[in-house]
Amino acid sequence: MSDKVGVGIIGCGGMGSHHARNLAKIEGAHLRGFADVRLESAQNLHNEVGCDYCTTQVQDLFDDDQIDLVLICTHHDLHVPLAIQAAEAGKQVFVEKPLALTIEGCEQIQEAVERAGVKLMAGFQARFSPFIAKLKAVIPEPLVIVGQLVDPRWGDESWANDPIEGGGNVLSQGCHMFDVMYWLAGAEPVTIYAEGGNLTHPKIPEITDSVVATIRFANGCVASAINGDFGAPALAGKAFYELFGGTKTATLYGYYGTPTIKFWGVEPAEFTMENLPPEARNSSAAHGYVDEMKALIDWVGKDIDPVNAAKVEDGVRATKLGIKAIEAIKTGQPQHL
Ligand SMILES: NC(=O)c1ccc[n+]([C@@H]2O[C@H](COP(=O)([O-])OP(=O)(O)OC[C@H]3O[C@@H](n4cnc5c(N)ncnc54)[C@H](O)[C@@H]3O)[C@@H](O)[C@H]2O)c1
Repeated sequence: MSDKVGVGIIGCGGMGSHHARNLAKIEGAHLRGFADVRLESAQNLHNEVGCDYCTTQVQDLFDDDQIDLVLICTHHDLHVPLAIQAAEAGKQVFVEKPLALTIEGCEQIQEAVERAGVKLMAGFQARFSPFIAKLKAVIPEPLVIVGQLVDPRWGDESWANDPIEGGGNVLSQGCHMFDVMYWLAGAEPVTIYAEGGNLTHPKIPEITDSVVATIRFANGCVASAINGDFGAPALAGKAFYELFGGTKTATLYGYYGTPTIKFWGVEPAEFTMENLPPEARNSSAAHGYVDEMKALIDWVGKDIDPVNAAKVEDGVRATKLGIKAIEAIKTGQPQHL
């Protein structure tokens, strides 16, 4: 490897472009190749941040010995085949969330990565958010957590609602919430029970769009987790996390607008963007995307363990929680992890 990490991006849409913009500012990263079935998308991104070439053929990136790291930022049905191909080509891998839409798919990726001896990071950037970090630091051993990740109704035509390409809100978006719940609880989930189902998309009966789950973790922490696309929370905003530690409470709201944490039993009793250094007072940094890419490049380039990062087993867990929640809804029975 040269002194910079050679990066290839597969899927130059919304998220691939977001990562490319952050990577372009990282000294140790070199944007080498962009691949997209729509060449125009790759070229637009090239025009914005620059790279050595654009292609419609992902194989070009896998064959390129100047590419060390591949970011897979396509829709969900392609995560498994592309991650396996990348690992088999000896590339270090970043896969956007969810790792896959099935437990089997996640495990196939895990096996491929372990067989090839390559690194894999999954796109759970919230772990790098200073707001999530603050919750974790102030209440490291919560007794009870409440989590909520709720969107206004997604269109029936949205790719994320396609049963094959997206999987619906619970598998597509809920994985973020499930990963954060695990991260904040600080222990493995043991059981999950849930109600919900298909409440907002009767024309797409295959998907689960709404879940209200109860999770018990190995350290005794219990959590209530609500996710779906059944409306916009008027006060809390799209994401809401509340940690109860007995003598302290931390409540994060407005995460996607004006992120704010209010504390009970902790001074000062508020944490906002104003508490961050000026360069971090923007949405990308506040949500962890900036530090996620820095940690990825340091991991690949300098072998610095990204302690916050979601690795392959974390990607598997987050999908498993969603799948088990759906099984609980369908069977009426608590599911064991
Ligand atoms: N971490 C986050 O907060 C976050 C936010 C949004 C999206 N995402 C995830 O990012 C991923 C991409 O979502 P998006 O919103 O950027 O989608 P998008 O539709 O904007 O972009 C996907 C891109 O992949 C391209 N593509 C499709 N098939 C391809 C192939 N075979 N080879 C190469 N390129 C191909 C498409 O042309 C498109 O440009 C998904 O996994 C999504 O869940 C994550």
